Amino acid sequence: MKYRILGSTKEKVSALGFGCMRLPTIDHKPSSGEIDEAETIRMLQYAIDNGVNYIDSAYTYHNGRSEEVIGRALQDGYRKKVLLTTKMPIWLVEKSNDFDRFLHEQLSRLKTDYLDVYLLHNLKKKTFHQLLNLGIFSWAEKAIDKGLFRYFGFSCHEPFSVFKVFIDSYDRWSIAQIQYNYMNEDVQAGTKGLKYAAKKDIAVVIMEPLLGGTLANPHPEILSLLNQANPQRSPVDWALQWLWNKPEVSTVLSGMSSFTQVQQNINSANHSDVNSLRSEELDTISRAQSRYSSMNPVPCTKCGYCMPCPNQVDIPRNFELFNTALVFNQVNLNKNIYQNIFPEEMHAASCIQCGICEEKCPQNIPIREWLRKVEELLGKKEIKD
Ligand SMILES: NC(=O)c1ccc[n+]([C@@H]2O[C@H](COP(=O)([O-])OP(=O)(O)OC[C@H]3O[C@@H](n4cnc5c(N)ncnc54)[C@H](OP(=O)(O)O)[C@@H]3O)[C@@H](O)[C@H]2O)c1
Repeated sequence: MKYRILGSTKEKVSALGFGCMRLPTIDHKPSSGEIDEAETIRMLQYAIDNGVNYIDSAYTYHNGRSEEVIGRALQDGYRKKVLLTTKMPIWLVEKSNDFDRFLHEQLSRLKTDYLDVYLLHNLKKKTFHQLLNLGIFSWAEKAIDKGLFRYFGFSCHEPFSVFKVFIDSYDRWSIAQIQYNYMNEDVQAGTKGLKYAAKKDIAVVIMEPLLGGTLANPHPEILSLLNQANPQRSPVDWALQWLWNKPEVSTVLSGMSSFTQVQQNINSANHSDVNSLRSEELDTISRAQSRYSSMNPVPCTKCGYCMPCPNQVDIPRNFELFNTALVFNQVNLNKNIYQNIFPEEMHAASCIQCGICEEKCPQNIPIREWLRKVEELLGKKEIKD
């Protein structure tokens, strides 16, 4: 495993971190609460045995089960081999007592006395002001003094201007977790955010390095472009190496859902390095970026934050069918799946326009508007305003 430095903490962190939001499930539904525990424990322990030392979870992942399964996976001496990170569900915080309540519940789920890193999950402008009023920073400093966690930070999907405000508001942040991949240079915090935080010695931890898996299965044209440049290198390896090439990146979290993916991504991390991509290779990625941008699909990463929908619409699945229909030019195939296989109650047409999902979407997607387009493209019925 290759190791990098975790910002001002000076901890040695593995180039590959284990993101625990997309673990294997028994019901084969991504991110469901039915985690395949035996397989997950095998994957986590294999990753740690092969040098991965950063584990990322959150209160809400897999309906709260992610932390519980990690807690069991880290028994038998594994706990002390990793930097264990989880996140406070700040949108559920109503009063200052909730800070301690969530932290202690999470410590108990994770079967540990302390966290290495505690993050404010999905920090937004509105919640940030509320947290400030509730005294979040003095609470965090006291919790660190008590040994409940070692480093404090936040994860964020906001644009650079807002990200910068968060970074500048506190001089004791250790970690900033951002969505970043070769398709998101100018999306959310983006390259500007990466460099800004790193310059302040705040460790930047990357989430969604494959745009939620999208970059693992690229459009045939992009695949052929990548293959022409290097037939040995997989699309996943291209995307990961592009990140590790950057000195400002501390660790790249991958949400691995199978044992093979863990093996492949560890192998990629093993031959990663800063400034190792040649200019022809960077040029190949630039051409892939331009081709992707021209396809213009819904910028959904299937993170599932929008779910559950009060009327059972499976929002990520609707967008996946819409995107693959357009990007892979398979409208008729996806119409067939949509109309004959995909349960009707989960269709875009069942949207009651309540907008609850839009408040939760980290990508700020106008979900209701896009669902109308999904139904127009794939559904039998026409939706009228
Ligand atoms: N704080 C936040 O707001 C937030 C938001 C999002 C994520 N995160 C954290 O960041 C982590 C990483 O984000 P992410 O899960 O979206 O990562 P990602 O790497 O962009 O996407 C993960 C998906 O990529 C596919 N994949 C991974 N390795 C592969 C391989 N070798 N070959 C083929 N496909 C591969 C898998 O898709 P399939 O399962 O379809 O095979 C996997 O589920 C999360 O797990 C979570 O810990 C945090």
